[in-house]
Amino acid sequence: MSYNVFDQGSPAAVFAAVAAGAAMKYMAGFLFPRDRYAYVGRIGQIWVYPIKSFRGHSVQEAECTHLGMKWKDFTDRHWTVATANGVYLTQRQEPTMALITPTIIGDQIQLTAPDMEPITFPADPPVTESNKSKVTVKADTVDSVDLGDKVADWLCRYFNRTGLRLHYSAPALEKRDASKCKKPWTHPAKPGDLCAFSDYCAYMVLSNASLTDLNKRLENPVPITNFRANIVVDDCQAYAEDSWSSLQIGDAQLRALDACTRCVLVTVDQEKGIKNKKEEPLSTLKKYRLKDPYGPKPCFGINFTLDKPGKIRVGDPIYAKLR
Ligand SMILES: *[C@@H]1O[C@H](CO)[C@@H](O)[C@H](O)[C@H]1NC(C)=O
Ligand SMILES: *[C@@H]1O[C@H](CO)[C@@H](O)[C@H](O)[C@H]1NC(C)=O
Ligand SMILES: *[C@@H]1O[C@H](CO)[C@@H](O)[C@H](O)[C@H]1NC(C)=O
Ligand SMILES: *[C@@H]1O[C@H](CO)[C@@H](O)[C@H](O)[C@H]1NC(C)=O
Repeated sequence: MSYNVFDQGSPAAVFAAVAAGAAMKYMAGFLFPRDRYAYVGRIGQIWVYPIKSFRGHSVQEAECTHLGMKWKDFTDRHWTVATANGVYLTQRQEPTMALITPTIIGDQIQLTAPDMEPITFPADPPVTESNKSKVTVKADTVDSVDLGDKVADWLCRYFNRTGLRLHYSAPALEKRDASKCKKPWTHPAKPGDLCAFSDYCAYMVLSNASLTDLNKRLENPVPITNFRANIVVDDCQAYAEDSWSSLQIGDAQLRALDACTRCVLVTVDQEKGIKNKKEEPLSTLKKYRLKDPYGPKPCFGINFTLDKPGKIRVGDPIYAKLR
């Protein structure tokens, strides 16, 4: 005797229903992989910006650490210039900061800039009572090491200002914590999402395709350097990064926080050290990249923090979980 497999309750029907359910779940997971990593692109460029607002280095490989991208003895945004009252200085006020290049020579850092003789200072000086200082970045005032009078005088001459000092976030000193940042919306940073002197958090990720899309809308295209990203992603659609909640690159795992909200700094020509008179590309970004809940600043790129450290290289595949 044969029986109909579609008879309700027959063992075969139960099995078929369970199998079909599992298959559909599998297919849905495959098409919309929200809880697993899927390939989303490749690393096009890696950038390290050791001194806040100075020129960065495009490197072939680097270490993703909890405090930012590390290359040689440089970790991203671990040095900052401060005004006489101890407040951080950026290209927003002094666009010619873009023209100062830091390089590592042995255990020294050398600064070079147009019309200035090069100057060197120790890359990782010990924290002593006489060199301990404080610096204010955004809402935080944190301990730092003052790098001495020689480099301070050099900076004062370059900017034609008085009282400037250079500060360093030595490894032993307290770091800033993104979870303590006050924002008008609830933001996802957790205690321990640290950085030294970045505005908000340790990493910024931007896709090459987003820049290409922006440039189509601009009379005068801008280079990627206007946006000071740490990881530039190739081989994805424009704004694909908006939907990535976490990234796996080699052993490194990064977790998305907020969008990268943009200010006048992106209008600074990084080769000339001058602001664009028409406020481009900021004006154009404001026309199509304002997003809830971020208010009047347009979004371009995503701010990330680190969950697991690891070495990354240009060309590495990037896997992401989607939001
Ligand atoms: C961005 O993509 C363009 C072509 O779309 C390519 O020529 C260029 O090398 C890429 N740049 C980076 C930084 O990946
Ligand atoms: C430490 O402070 C002393 C005295 O203020 C100064 O002469 C020296 O250059 C400083 N050293 C460094 C490494 O900043
Ligand atoms: C430097 O600043 C002083 C005082 O503000 C000003 O008189 C002088 O012209 C400035 N020099 C340069 C080279 O900008
Ligand atoms: C993202 O990071 C940038 C650079 O650190 C910062 O200026 C911006 O405020 C951050 N965006 C948000 C929404 O916190």
